[in-house]
Amino acid sequence: MSTVNADLTYNYKVVRQFAIMTVVWGIVGMSLGVIIASQLVWPQLNLDLPWTHFGRLRPLHTNAVIFGFGGSALFATSYYVVQRTCQARLFSDGLAAFTFWGWQAVLIAAVITLPLGLTSTKEYAELEWPIDLLILVTWVSYAIVFFGTIMKRSAPHIYVANWFYGAFIITVAVLHIGNNLALPASLFKSYSAYAGVTDAMMQWWWGHNAVGFFLTAGFLGMMYYFVPKQANRPVYSYRLSIVHFWALIATYVWAGGHHLHYSALPDWAQTAGMIMSLILLAPSWGGMINGMMTLSGAWHKLRTDPILRFLVVSLSFYGMSTFEGPMMAIKTVNALSHNTDWTIGHVHSGALGWVAMISIGAIYHLIPKLWGIKEMYSIGLINVHFWLATVGTVLYIVAMWVNGIMQGLMWRAVNEDGTLTYSFVQALEASWPGYLVRFIGGVIFLSGMLVMAWNVWMTIRQKDAVAADNVAAQPA
Ligand code: HEM
Ligand code: HEM
Repeated sequence: MSTVNADLTYNYKVVRQFAIMTVVWGIVGMSLGVIIASQLVWPQLNLDLPWTHFGRLRPLHTNAVIFGFGGSALFATSYYVVQRTCQARLFSDGLAAFTFWGWQAVLIAAVITLPLGLTSTKEYAELEWPIDLLILVTWVSYAIVFFGTIMKRSAPHIYVANWFYGAFIITVAVLHIGNNLALPASLFKSYSAYAGVTDAMMQWWWGHNAVGFFLTAGFLGMMYYFVPKQANRPVYSYRLSIVHFWALIATYVWAGGHHLHYSALPDWAQTAGMIMSLILLAPSWGGMINGMMTLSGAWHKLRTDPILRFLVVSLSFYGMSTFEGPMMAIKTVNALSHNTDWTIGHVHSGALGWVAMISIGAIYHLIPKLWGIKEMYSIGLINVHFWLATVGTVLYIVAMWVNGIMQGLMWRAVNEDGTLTYSFVQALEASWPGYLVRFIGGVIFLSGMLVMAWNVWMTIRQKDAVAADNVAAQPA
């Protein structure tokens, strides 16, 4: 039973709920990833049923991993970080609980509607309009809880992690509303408010900033709290964190044009997208360097601390994918990479290497604290997980790089008389070994998540949540 005035304590309940759902949606989303990867190796696994077809399960995979796994990790960590760094309980327990149940309802709705083929067809925004409205209400509640907590803070300044979480929350709200404006035709069918190339531009304004704000800014917020905490070192440069924050958010929103190279989008807009993407390298690396350098004087901890390893390796993948992205945004490079598996490799070096690894590290840091326990049940198993995740990621992305460059080269090869050297099917056949390696990499990554689930379960069985709840609001 609570013995401390609730207002002097933190709300860990909602953090615990989201932390658990991070692991659950991670397993669901990655299992779907493994299923669709296996379908590309053995097409019979589509089972000849519409509901289990690659085309329907693929958006379910992306929704489950981005919004289920990534989203839950962002909710959990932002609610934890904002409370600890503001030394204040969440603005409203009721509204925070609503965001948990609202978000889970959105995800369950995705699990039901996407296999049924109910989709707006906009990538990463496939859900139909009633679900979009639920997302909107949940997201606005999230903003109220988050910013309300900042308003009632007792710490004098707003720690930089909260700047990143805040930018992520505001921008995703604006993008979600802008991109999903549509005219409903029935309960599960709507038509976009935009037409033709305008629709494509809106879609990729959202799509790229889903990457920039959902998959990046929020996770940088995570990085700014958990890397210094786990390394027990102050952030390397507070000034750099502010400079790269403003540079990052000012640049990202202009770069979406790189998804529409050689399309009907006006040429100048494509070129602007390319230039902004090249500029984006600098603020991205600003964040990566700031995170890495925070380890100055603490590098030796990597030998014994697998949680820190997750966090640091995630930063190296962040650095890698934000170097690769600007290169792929150069029009002549994109002429080779577009529509090939190179893009898929790039996506997963960001998604598995950066987003998943930093989330996993943060959750391992959080779980014992949330349940009032000294440390995770098994540090050895975290180490096993680290290696499974690293090997899985590397197999996945190397296979896709090889496939992607090979596909790009085979598609553009021409004979002396101007005819194509290879048919599309020949390029597909040549891709088969890469698909098999990617499937194996996926199985390895997923098995790491199962190890995590076991470790988390064994940890929270020793729970002392009441003691954790009664930790008085104190300096972070
Ligand atoms: C076990 C782990 C995973 C496996 C095996 C896997 C597998 C796949 C496969 C087979 C595709 C379809 C590729 C295609 O269309 O050719 C895909 C797409 C995608 N996955 Fe994953 N995935 C995994 C984890 C993740 C995670 C953790 C995230 C995000 C946090 C993610 C984000 C995406 C995205 C955004 C796409 C769409 C890419 C595009 O259209 O360019 N995946 N994944
Ligand atoms: C400086 C940062 C980055 C830049 C400039 C960049 C640039 C690009 C480019 C040029 C493409 C290929 C577009 C195409 O040919 O269709 C792409 C695709 C993609 N990138 Fe990045 N990228 C960056 C960072 C990241 C990160 C960190 C992630 C993930 C966490 C990510 C996720 C994606 C996804 C999901 C796609 C596929 C979109 C789709 O077609 O469905 N990117 N990116």
